[in-house]
This record gives sequence, structure tokens and C-alpha cells, in this order.
Amino acid sequence: MTASYPNLRLRRTRASAWSRALHRETVLTTADLIWPLFVTEGDAVEQPIASLPGVSRWSVDGIAARAREAVALGIPCIALFPNTQRDRRSDDGAEALNPDNLMCRAIRAIREECGNDIGILTDVALDPYTSHGQDGVIDDAGYVLNDETVAVLVDQAINQAEAGADIIAPSDMMDGRVRAIRMALEMGGHHNVQIMSYAAKYASAFYGPFRDAVGSGALLKGDKKSYQMDPANTEEALREVALDIAEGADSVMVKPGLPYLDIVARVKDRFEVPVFAYQVSGEYAMIEAAAAAGAGDRDALVIETLMAFKRAGCTGILTYHAAHAARLLNG
Ligand code: PBG
Repeated sequence: MTASYPNLRLRRTRASAWSRALHRETVLTTADLIWPLFVTEGDAVEQPIASLPGVSRWSVDGIAARAREAVALGIPCIALFPNTQRDRRSDDGAEALNPDNLMCRAIRAIREECGNDIGILTDVALDPYTSHGQDGVIDDAGYVLNDETVAVLVDQAINQAEAGADIIAPSDMMDGRVRAIRMALEMGGHHNVQIMSYAAKYASAFYGPFRDAVGSGALLKGDKKSYQMDPANTEEALREVALDIAEGADSVMVKPGLPYLDIVARVKDRFEVPVFAYQVSGEYAMIEAAAAAGAGDRDALVIETLMAFKRAGCTGILTYHAAHAARLLNG
């Protein structure tokens, strides 16, 4: 930079709205958003989630209606999470493999309603299906077994792909699962099914409301630190991302979002791949609580935080604010 004050006045380009628009470096559009939705049993059921004010679980018919709404709003993709009934949960999470489980029924209902107008992202991990709330199968000491879990996750992924999922998103953090899922998808003829790996997923305190939403919170004993990452680590995140790309991931995710934008920026800088971030349940709850307490304008908080994800280098953002943000962006 050669000029200095007063030849250089950085406020010049900020002085009017047209000029700010002209100089804006980052854009946020509805096409950047992925809307996570919670599915529950029943017909015409909407269950508000207390720890996620404004977010509900919907029965399959309601999920199809939300997908239709997403298409109308210009949201390109939705992410599904099931609230599996207690009596369908087991130690091995076998319900994940049932071709008629909530997830598969929701996928088919959305396809019926929206055709290919919307992408359907499905979470691969066993926590919505296990009686202990861990993401995999456990041994007698409660340790989540890696290779045994990967074998089940592969079958879960194929079950979802056969129901019509477009993007398989393994959120379990087992080693080697991306390669195993990719091979199974290829062998099963699912050449165009994408994998978005939760590559850098941290053992975070921000997942609490999500665990209420899928019904695993009360069941979970202990923590997930033997597979999810230590929030103190960056280099390890880069290794996780490198590994998942090498194993065949089409895109990678960083999670949580806002407190980990440094990781997003590092990943984007280092690897030439699409990077997504998940603005998780606790982050959503934090914004809602701040707005409810009068600590900030809700709409402005929503748009500013989502813009921050884009500025950090995100290709897209999973956010419970997706529909609201899309309405704001659509004016
Ligand atoms: C499950 C999963 C979690 C989230 C997405 N997939 C929770 C967890 O790992 O315990 C969290 C999402 C959120 O908090 O919004 N494997």
C-alpha cells in the first residue's frame, strides 16, 4: 500500500450504500444454505424443541412440506436427522439399517414432493439409533469400537443411498469410514452420491440442544472425546481433512461453526475443496437467547454470523436459521 492519509481515506468507499454494495467482497445468498430438519413419528405432528426455540420436529408429511418450502425459498439442500423412538433403539443401532426407518421414509416423501429440485443430505452415525447415545457400537467398557462401527456405517450409508439420499454426511469421526463408504457406494452403483464428511468435528459443548432434538441426550453416558476432536487442536483438523479427501470425500465440513472459523480459513487455504461449516444447535440457541434478552437484533445477528462463515471461506453453511435467513435475503 503506497498512499497514506489524507490521500488515502478508507471511509470514502463506505460513505454511501451504493458504494458499500459495489465494494462488498463477500456475498451471502440462499444458495449458500443447508437447512437441518428433525423427523419424528406420526401424522401431522409438530413438536417444538424447548432448547431450540423456533425449531420443531416434524412428522414425515411435515418434512415433505418443509422441503417444498425450502425449494420455494431458494434453499438448495436440506439435512435430515431422525428422532428414533426409544423402543426402536438398541445397543447396536440396527434401526439405522432398516429400509423403512424414519430417515428413509422422509427421504422418499421429499423425493415424491420435490423430485430433484432439492438435495437431501443424510447424517451417517449411530447416535440417533443407539440405546446408549454413542455414535457407534461400544465394548463392555463403553469404548466406541472403530472398525466394527465402520462396518455398520457402510450399511447405513447404503440404506440411505438406496432410499434416495444425494449427500452422505458421516458425522461419526471413525477412522477409515470415508474410504469404506465410498467403495460401497461405487460397488452399489451409486456413482453420483456425494460424500460430505464431517472431517473436523470437535467434542463440543455446543451440541446439547441437538441431542435433545434427536432424543439421545438423556441416554448418553460420558462424552465423545475418544472420537470427536479436542477443541485445542488445529494441525489435527488439517490431517483429518487431508485423510478424508484422500479417502474420497467430495466436500468436507468443520463443526461447530462460529467458534471454529479459524479452522475453516486454514482448511480453505490449504486444500482446494469445498468446505462447509455447521452452525450447530448451541450456536443457534445462543443467538436466539441473545436476541430474546435484547442483546442484539435477531435478523442482523443471523445475517452477520452467516456472512462471517462466507468471509472465512465457506462454500455453504448448515444452519437452523436457513429458512429465516432465506426470507431475509429474499426481502
Ligand atoms: C451426531 C451429530 C451431532 C450433531 C450432528 N450430528 C451431535 C453429536 O455429535 O453429539 C450436532 C449438531 C448440532 O448440535 O446442531 N453424530
